[in-house]
Amino acid sequence: MVFNFISRLYFLQNMLGCIVASVIPPFFVHNLAKYFAIKKAFYLSDIENIEGDYLEFGVFTGSSMACAIQCARNSRVGKAGTINFFGFDSFCGFGDLPEGDKHPFYTNINFKTEYASVSKRLNKIAKRNQKVFLLRVFLMKHVMMYCRKNMVLERRR
Ligand SMILES: C[S@@+](CC[C@H](N)C(=O)[O-])C[C@H]1O[C@@H](n2cnc3c(N)ncnc32)[C@H](O)[C@@H]1O
Repeated sequence: MVFNFISRLYFLQNMLGCIVASVIPPFFVHNLAKYFAIKKAFYLSDIENIEGDYLEFGVFTGSSMACAIQCARNSRVGKAGTINFFGFDSFCGFGDLPEGDKHPFYTNINFKTEYASVSKRLNKIAKRNQKVFLLRVFLMKHVMMYCRKNMVLERRR
């Protein structure tokens, strides 16, 4: 009866929801959402019987990749065999960008990381049937070269 009464107090529920949402720091919500998305990807891959490797473009400190390695361990495909984890990053940010692509927060300085420490961290987490390959590459150069050659591209911000 009390529960019934409370469940009808939509205003109170909305207010509590808003208070909780406004108090939690945004970076925490952002990171948690990333981890849940990765967890969901493995869950859906299990349901759909999708096998294969994990590729991440932009690894930074490796926190999402570490999460993927851990989530994969609990997935059916991860238990059944070997999963390769490929991480691509320049480990020095975005490189030289055209003026229109520059961003106030996403800068080279903010995204400089140590290849060796990221690699060490990920390899420490990975189990024997999880192989980690960390590649130091500038994606834009290679991807754009391919796209320019093979596709008609329209510029969007
Ligand atoms: C937002 S961080 C990635 C965060 C990571 N996925 C996570 O969730 O923990 C973006 C990363 O992309 C890398 N990056 C950006 N542009 C790149 C490019 N053109 N080639 C290679 N790496 C790039 C940066 O060095 C940076 O580490």
